[in-house]
Amino acid sequence: MLVLGLQGSPRRNGNTRFLLAAFLEAAARRGARTRLLSVPEADIRPCRELGVCEKRGTCPIRDDLAREGYGLIREAEVVVLASPVFFYGMTAQIKALVDRCQVFWARKYRLRLADPRRATRRGFVLSVGATRGKNLFEGLLLSARYFLDAIDAPLAGSLLYRGIEGPGDLARHPAVRGEVEAAVEELLAPLRRRRRLLFLARQDDGIGPMAAALAGHRAAAAWEVHSAGLEPAANLRPGVAEAMAEQGIDIGFQRPRVLEEALAEGPPDVVVALDAAAAAARLEGAQHESWEVPALEAEPPGRLRDALGPRVEDFLGREAGG
Ligand SMILES: Cc1cc2nc3c(=O)[nH]c(=O)nc-3n(C[C@H](O)[C@H](O)[C@H](O)COP(=O)(O)O)c2cc1C
Repeated sequence: MLVLGLQGSPRRNGNTRFLLAAFLEAAARRGARTRLLSVPEADIRPCRELGVCEKRGTCPIRDDLAREGYGLIREAEVVVLASPVFFYGMTAQIKALVDRCQVFWARKYRLRLADPRRATRRGFVLSVGATRGKNLFEGLLLSARYFLDAIDAPLAGSLLYRGIEGPGDLARHPAVRGEVEAAVEELLAPLRRRRRLLFLARQDDGIGPMAAALAGHRAAAAWEVHSAGLEPAANLRPGVAEAMAEQGIDIGFQRPRVLEEALAEGPPDVVVALDAAAAAARLEGAQHESWEVPALEAEPPGRLRDALGPRVEDFLGREAGG
């Protein structure tokens, strides 16, 4: 399970960085994989309202968001937006990222696509401000809430600190560490109780991502679902994301993973082998099963998706039943 922190403060040793680092450390201690994207140091350009995303669900601006950020935002199960209050809103740097996530808004509301794990994805907000007014965080929270809705990671909670101005102010706050621990525990507890399911194939470029998306879509609350390949692959095969999109499931930003990457999520409880190469692999401590499914080269992705659906249903039913 990936917890992604989006860091919005331009200050090198600022309060937001301190707060987000504490949050990610608490998540890592609970077994989550964590990733920090420090937006002011990244090449992330503002939205130019070109209108491409509204039609195609992609953005033609080539920067770090296109190269890696969109994929990370989709891969994460928890997305943490962290920013100081600048003029009652978030910083310009992180607002640029938020605006560019109109891509996700368009995929969700124009193209009617949903993240396969939308039932379990969560958003969280961390913020600090110098003053103490009642409305200090209202502007930032309103933007953040709509951003998190657009990326299918609805706002689950926030930690907001008033009267924080100088670089070391928050580190001296008496309660912050305990509050971070409590918030992370509450957020991750239901996600950590799940069993881990890994779909394994020779390459993670089609059948595995489809099976994982179907299983995640149906049962993300019970299973942390991953897919991986024994050999690397550059991209999903043509037509795979489109076949899932026909059912409203968005895997458009997914990239193939190798087994080592999937194992970094923690040991799987169940491994489902999707071809002969994967059936020969054995992971210690995991329950194994092999599914007879047609090879992707032999079938159009839509047919394969339809063949996988009942297998996924059967698996989830069997496991839920006993
Ligand atoms: C451009 C700018 C605008 C700010 N606007 C506000 C504001 O509207 N309200 C407020 O309470 N603090 C405001 N601040 C203060 C910061 O929120 C405060 O110093 C915060 O601790 C900075 O967080 P950081 O250390 O993570 O960068 C502003 C600071 C800057 C530089």
